[in-house]
Amino acid sequence: MSEWTDGLEGVVAARTVLSEVDGEAGRLLIRGYSLDDLVRRRSFEQVTALLWEGFLDNLPRDIIAALGLARREVFSEVMALDASLAAHEPFEAMRALIARLGDGDDLATALRLVAAPAVFAAAAARVRSGGAPIAPDPAIGHAADILRMFRGARASEAEVSALDAYLVTVIDHGLNASTFAARVVASTRAGLTSAVLAGVSALKGPLHGGAPGPVIEMLDGVGAPEKARLWLEAALDRGDRLMGFGHRVYRVRDPRADALKAVTRELADIAPAPLGRLALAEAVEAAALAILAERKPGRSLATNVELYTALLLEALAFPAAAFTCVFAMGRVAGWIAHAREQVAGGRLIRPQSVYVGPRLAA
Ligand code: ACO
Repeated sequence: MSEWTDGLEGVVAARTVLSEVDGEAGRLLIRGYSLDDLVRRRSFEQVTALLWEGFLDNLPRDIIAALGLARREVFSEVMALDASLAAHEPFEAMRALIARLGDGDDLATALRLVAAPAVFAAAAARVRSGGAPIAPDPAIGHAADILRMFRGARASEAEVSALDAYLVTVIDHGLNASTFAARVVASTRAGLTSAVLAGVSALKGPLHGGAPGPVIEMLDGVGAPEKARLWLEAALDRGDRLMGFGHRVYRVRDPRADALKAVTRELADIAPAPLGRLALAEAVEAAALAILAERKPGRSLATNVELYTALLLEALAFPAAAFTCVFAMGRVAGWIAHAREQVAGGRLIRPQSVYVGPRLAA
């Protein structure tokens, strides 16, 4: 076998009932539901249960309460957040604390793993900014408690609803890099914690879930709508990629971008602070799409999920250094579903490479 596809583009590496990404039509289907059918209509906990149905036994009737108890359970690991760990970026501290959880393949492990990014990232961000971790409140929903643990105060209903919509929007997305990484590890039967750690690690990079922080740097760098074209042209001339644009599968606009833009706009209607930011992002988006079309006419590069993720998470007052942690809080439910699906029906994932090094000297 000698065929090789750079970046595995177009290679089918799994069969899944979990989600379908239609890159030509710009549609995302999650277990038979379109994104629009789920965002604002089902909670993060409900969509988690939808993804896990058939892959984990004894799903609790009250998954909100079960996840609340799991948050309280994993909070004990926060004691390990010493000064040296807290000196790291919140993402790295979160990853280290997740690694302290034992491996397993059952529902209890899965719930702890969904609780973990929320509890650990909030604690790490607070300690890093000189505060103290805040214990979870198991009696409230996941989105409400995430905002509470970050801020130390209850968030408004509009903010909770916006965060819940975000977590649902990013919960699963076909065989993206982090989900693939999670499935590879799951295929060795290593256990859910190991699979989730693989997903977390793959998510970190700016070509995947690490893009929203740099999006904020881009918006800050541009500064004003009329400066967008000049700034973006200079970035491309330096060889930089424009964060929040382009996708391996979508050839049209990522449907999650519209969903998150609508959520951000609603939030702006209630608390007008992000309105100016929204106008700036729209100007940057228009300029970026025009420039990318001029410079890469052969490849349709459109807006991806990360541009409006950055805006929404900024409007919700998350620190930019924790944006990718918040992405992990949603996507972790999808990684777990994929890991279980891989174990249930898949073989060990073990592709081949083409050797292009020196041959044995005669
Ligand atoms: N800015 C500038 N140029 C780009 C961008 C971009 N955002 N995206 C792609 N290109 C260029 C590539 O450099 C390539 O140019 P070349 O042919 O001269 O080498 C060409 O367009 C084609 O690129 P693709 O093959 O479409 O890119 P690929 O599928 O390998 O990468 C990716 C997809 C990583 C998302 C890329 O578009 C990118 O780097 N975007 C910026 C980072 C980003 O927004 N990441 C978040 C992605 S969404 C998510 O993972 C949740």
